Amino acid sequence: MGKLRLALIAGGKSSEREVSLKSGAQVHKALNKDKYDIRHFDPLTDLERLVREAKDLDAALIIMHGRGGEDGSLQGLLDLLEIPYQGSRILASALAMNKELSKTIYQQAGLKAPRALVFDRRGTPSPQEIEAALGLPVVIKPVHEGSSIGVSKAGTFESLESGLAAAFALDDRVMVEEFIQGTEVTGGVLGNTRLQALPLVEIIPAKTYQFFDFEAKYQPGASEEICPARLSPELTKRAQECAITAHQALGCRGYSRTDMMIRDQEIFVLETNTIPGMTATSLFPQGAKAAGIDFPDLLDTLINLALGKE
Ligand SMILES: Nc1ncnc2c1ncn2[C@@H]1O[C@H](COP(=O)(O)OP(=O)(O)O)[C@@H](O)[C@H]1O
Ligand SMILES: [Mg+2]
Repeated sequence: MGKLRLALIAGGKSSEREVSLKSGAQVHKALNKDKYDIRHFDPLTDLERLVREAKDLDAALIIMHGRGGEDGSLQGLLDLLEIPYQGSRILASALAMNKELSKTIYQQAGLKAPRALVFDRRGTPSPQEIEAALGLPVVIKPVHEGSSIGVSKAGTFESLESGLAAAFALDDRVMVEEFIQGTEVTGGVLGNTRLQALPLVEIIPAKTYQFFDFEAKYQPGASEEICPARLSPELTKRAQECAITAHQALGCRGYSRTDMMIRDQEIFVLETNTIPGMTATSLFPQGAKAAGIDFPDLLDTLINLALGKE
């Protein structure tokens, strides 16, 4: 059998373009060149070429985050072009990208999520109303972003005002959540029909960061990541079950990674990433590695899952 003709899609025009290009380069490096004939596509410049070459492609790996890559739109294009791709389809991608809708779905599935207010510019509550509803501090986030872009923590009315302005600069809906002071973990899920919960990764941003913000995420050494997370076996099992429940409730496919905060014994689901970061040292690959799946194997598995083989 010849090589699998694989489209490696990275770049795009979301705020996470640079992250995507960096991951794309690492994925290229790790892919087995004996198995794959790799062609690169950057949606910023290469969408027409993707359409033209669709008939000569066997599968696609989407290594993009945020809008235009992780939100279902590219998934829809690939569906129309009949190119199999890894991970969630249109609806689950779009739902997971929307922190307002996904929270409702988590709660319906019996998961606990931080209490929140969600509003557009015109409906913005006063700082007093926010404090009365949620207490302070709170976390402010755009409803449709990722990578902590536009996310801030506010403990004063002043920082509330500036945080809301920063979030509204990126999105027309904003969520304000109660701040959960606790341990942050993230849980990968892998599989199509038989779902495997990967070992959890515990995230400890350096003291200079108030939470896992953009810099804490991508500046090497800015955060300590411990895998498996230092939780009791019982709590580990419960958090892994939350990751699987979130994955299933949103209707994800192939893989996902759910971010959680744990306070005392309570697990709060923050969000689910349908295209988690994919450098060799990213969180999902760390969990996979702890489960005995190294980075090149993980890429093979994702491609096989895309083709419906596993
Ligand atoms: N309610 C919360 N309480 C405490 N920390 C939070 C809360 N929500 C978000 N955070 C922090 O902000 C980071 C980014 O939030 P998250 O909801 O995961 O959005 P993103 O899509 O930007 O990753 C989290 O990794 C966590 O460190
Ligand atoms: Mg997150």
